[in-house]
This record gives sequence, C-alpha cells and structure tokens, in this order.
Amino acid sequence: MNVLKQLLSYLLTRKSLALLVLVSIFISQVAELAIPLLIGLTIDNILKSLETGNFETSLVLSGVVLIVIASLIRGIMHFVGRYSGYLQGEAIIREIRSDLFVKYETSNMKFFDRHRTGDLMSRATTDLEPIGEFLVWGERILLQAFLTYTGIYLILLSIDVTLFLLIAVVTPSLILLSYGISRILGPLFFELREKYGELTAVITENISGAQIVRAFHAEEREKQKFDQHNQGYMELRAYAFKIRSIFLPSIVLVVNLLVTILIYAGGVAAIEERISTGILISLFTYFTMLALPTRFLAFSLITYQRVVAAGNRVFSLIEDTSFTEKEMVGYTVPLNETPHILFDRVSFKYSDRAILSNISLTIKSGEKVAILGSTGSGKSTLISLIPRFQDVTSGQVLVEYNGNSHNIADLDLSTWRKCVGFVHQEPFLFGRTIAENLIFELGDIDTSEIEQVLKITQLAEFIKSLPDGLNTLVGERGVTLSGGQKQRLAIARMLLRKNPIMVLDDATSSLDIYTEAQFLTAFDKMLKTSSIKHTVIFITQRLSTLKNVDRIVILNRGQIIEEGTHDELIKTGEIYPLLWKTQESGQIDVKLTLEKIIKEREE
Ligand SMILES: Nc1ncnc2c1ncn2[C@@H]1O[C@H](COP(=O)(O)OP(=O)(O)OP(=O)(O)O)[C@@H](O)[C@H]1O
Ligand SMILES: [Mg+2]
Repeated sequence: MNVLKQLLSYLLTRKSLALLVLVSIFISQVAELAIPLLIGLTIDNILKSLETGNFETSLVLSGVVLIVIASLIRGIMHFVGRYSGYLQGEAIIREIRSDLFVKYETSNMKFFDRHRTGDLMSRATTDLEPIGEFLVWGERILLQAFLTYTGIYLILLSIDVTLFLLIAVVTPSLILLSYGISRILGPLFFELREKYGELTAVITENISGAQIVRAFHAEEREKQKFDQHNQGYMELRAYAFKIRSIFLPSIVLVVNLLVTILIYAGGVAAIEERISTGILISLFTYFTMLALPTRFLAFSLITYQRVVAAGNRVFSLIEDTSFTEKEMVGYTVPLNETPHILFDRVSFKYSDRAILSNISLTIKSGEKVAILGSTGSGKSTLISLIPRFQDVTSGQVLVEYNGNSHNIADLDLSTWRKCVGFVHQEPFLFGRTIAENLIFELGDIDTSEIEQVLKITQLAEFIKSLPDGLNTLVGERGVTLSGGQKQRLAIARMLLRKNPIMVLDDATSSLDIYTEAQFLTAFDKMLKTSSIKHTVIFITQRLSTLKNVDRIVILNRGQIIEEGTHDELIKTGEIYPLLWKTQESGQIDVKLTLEKIIKEREE
C-alpha cells in the first residue's frame, strides 16, 4: 500500500487548489530567502558609503524599499499558502471519510463478519487525525524546508564554493539520521494504530453489551481486560515518545553543529576577504534559518510515519474490493409483480463450513411458506440468500417473471431489494423517532398508511399512549422499547413498503400468542385486499401459525427433510405428524421438539 500515492491522487482531484498551495508557498519562501540577501547588500552599500564618504541615498533607499516589498509578499503569500493548505487538507479528509462511509454502506455482510465495529469506527475517526494534520501543515512544512535548503544551497554556491561544499558534506548525515529513525518509528506507529483500534473495540463492545456485563457481574473481569489493552497501548505510546524524544534533540544537535561550523567557515571567508561584511551578516541569518525548518522537518517526518501507519489502515480498507456488493446493473425487476422463486441445488458455506447443502425448493408467486427447523439448522441463512445478503456457494437462486427465469445474481440489486421486504430475527431500530424509523429511506408517506400498518401490527394503541406519539425517540437500537414492540415496529416498517415478497425471520417470537394471532389475522386481511399478490416466507416456532399456510418446509442440518401442506404432511410426513402431536400434549417448543424427534429417529 503506497500511502503517498493514495494521498497524491486525492490532492490531484483539486488541481487548482493544489497549484495555489504550491505557488504561494514557493513565492513566500523565495521572498523570505531574498530578505537576508537584500539586508546584506544594503549594509554593504551603507559601509561603502561610509568608507568613501560619498553617501548613495538612492541605492540604500531602493534596498530598503525592496526589503519592505519582499516582506509584504512573504506575509501575504504565507497567509495564502497557509489558508489554502488548510482548506485543501480539510477537503481531502472529508473526502477520505466519505469514501470510508461509502465503503461501509456498500460492503457485503462478510465484511462486517470480518471487522469489529470499534475498529471500523477508529478508522473513520482517529486514524484520519494524523492524515489531516499532515495535510494541513506537514505538507507545507516539508515543502518550506525543501525550498529553504535548496535556496540556501544555491545562494552559498553563488557566494562561496568552500561554504557550499561544507554544507553539502554535512547534510547527508541529517538525512541518514531522519531515515534511520523513521524506519524504527514507522512500524511502531502502525502497531499503535492497531492497538488503538482494539482498545476502541473493547470500549464499544462494553457499551453495547452494558446489560450483559451487569447481568453476568463481569465488570471486574472486563475492567481487567480493558486495563490490559489500555496499559499495553500506553506503554507502546511511551516507547514511541521516547524514540521521538531522542530523535528531535539529535536532529537539533546536528543542525547546531552544522551552523557552528558554517559560522566559523563564514568568519574565515570574511577575514580572508573572500566575502564582504554585509554578505557575512546575510550568511549568519541563513545559517540560523536552517535550524527551524530542520526541526519542523524532523517533526513532520514523524507525522509522516504516523500518516503511513494510519493511511495503511484506511486506504487498505477503501481499496479492498473483495467485500464490495456486486451492484449488477442487470435485469430490473418490475415492482408490481411477484415472481416465482426457485432454489436450484443451492449450497452455502461460511468460510469452509457447509451450512446449506443441495437445497431445491420452489416458492410460487403469492404462496405463503413457513420454514421450521431446530436451532442452527440454517433457516436464517437460507432466507438471507433471497435478498442476497449472502450469495450461494454453488447452485443458483432463480426468479421467474412471465415464464422468463433470471438468476438473482444477474438482477439489478437495488430494485431487487425493493422487491424483497425483510424482517430480521433480531430487529434493529435506529436511535431516531418511531416515525423516522418507519419512513427511513422513503421520502413522502401518507400518515394514513402509517396508521394502517400500526393497526395491523397491533401498535396503534401503544403509540397513541406515548406523549410524543410517532415522534417518540426510541433510544439507541430501540432500547426504550420492549422486545415485542421492537419486533412489531420492524414488521410495520416492512409492511409500509408493500414489497411483493415478504420475508419474516421469526419476527413474532416475542409476542404473546393472543397478540400474534391478532396480528396474523390483520396481516392476512391486508394480503387479501392488496392490489398485488404477495409471497410470504416466514420462519416460525409456533405451530399455531401453520394452519393456513400453503406450504411447510422442515430444515435439518442445512437440508430439507420434509415439505408439503399441513394436510399432506399430517398424512404422509414422518416428522411433522410427531411434531403436531406434541402440540396437543401442550408442548409447543418447535425447535427443541424437532431436535428431539430427529435425534430419536436417528438412534
Ligand atoms: N456470519 C456467520 N459466520 C459464520 N457462521 C455463521 C454465521 N451466521 C450463522 N453461522 C452459522 O450457520 C449455521 C446456521 O445458522 P442460522 O442462523 O442459519 O441458523 P437458524 O436455523 O436460523 O438458527 P436459529 O433458529 O437459532 O435462528 C449455524 O451453525 C451458525 O453457527
Ligand atoms: Mg435464525
């Protein structure tokens, strides 16, 4: 990962601003370098006048005017360089942050399996700080230092070759020293960034999991774990600081030595009358001018190492396209039609672990299909293939519109996802108002439509009872709502979109049987009166919900073991009748019962 190249490509997106920064810094540096020379020449003119007694007022005066002009140019250009450099740096950071956000928005679910939230957070926040610092002032300082050195070299070369050779011999030691230290600091800063990412991850997880920590009384243990990370981070920072603290004074020492040698050599040159008194004064100014940019140079070299460390983390993420969702601009599905869905010998693996094997299943347009299976049997994984949250490892999922089949991998993804409504097993709500959660990406929506879905999900009464009604904030992830309320809001959010296909992953598991039955009745009514027919696929663990479904699919260890209507399965099924019987005896834990039945049959 070439961080400099990446930064350069961002710089070049604003060519005129980059040019303004360069030109203004260049002009301000040239003016700054001209001032000591002008002062030296003016002093020489005054001394000459004193020697000859012939005072050349106009010559001295023009020298003074030139000094004033150079100072003005330097001042104005310095301001322009600083301000435009600042704007440039801020604009680039905004762009990098935005690119990261886009990455987070366009990555597939595997990306989030791979990275921890805290780490992703720190990449989009603290990792950008050194990059910003460097762009805002580091770049300018590096440029100024480079120009100061080059300028002074050229001036010395034109004044006295011995002095030039002297500085040319000593400078490489500065470069070597800087290079050596940055080789040590580079990996150290990278490690620091990684450690900081881990630290943030521990903090975010402890905030999100605050209740779990309390419930298990794990505060002490978590504190110890945090202390370890915190301590490790601090120790590494202290070590990095020590190296920096050795580096900076060493650079200053070398520069001071260089300046002393140059002052001595300059003095000798003046005594030997190779240079005039005025020029000697100019040279002294130049020599002392070397100290500041060198110190800044050393500082910005350190910053640059921090930039490389942080930049590697940020750009490697932006560059990595292996997790990017394939936004196929393929067949755009009609949103007022409901296709047949065909799973054709579908298998799916998480890394190397087979989760689904050889699933073939047809779901006809307008069908209502229930999926049963014990825990971990692959139900959620199976339905996550439909909106392409995951992609099949082998086989294919097809949709059929008017007799024409399309592989879902060839569909225009954004319209396809508009076609599939989804309620997740663990509902997620944003820390916004109820209305904002419901409307989400939709622009204008009729409040009567909202009221209708709230009625169907049995939420109307509850929302009316809230002082702020629909404008009630739900807290982060919806913490201020009960499990069942959250589930119903998530269902309402889907229903509002009237998607042709609706997928519900155990979406009513937290509701009491009575509320669930009321919801299902209202939901059925809505489906019947809708202008299009809807396919409903739902995972359930309540047998009571199965009576009026068109088909029941039983999944076990990633395979379909039984499939058919309730009546068919009762007559011909092997597992389903046993399952159904348990209901009569009052046992209704479908997952557990299924597991037991299957185990007993295997034995
Ligand atoms: N993101 C993931 N990465 C790796 N493995 C996963 C991931 N998600 C699920 N699995 C594994 O896939 C298998 C099937 O999980 P899945 O969530 O589909 O089960 P499920 O039938 O929905 O179970 P439940 O009834 O408990 O919700 C499980 O063994 C699980 O460990
Ligand atoms: Mg599940």
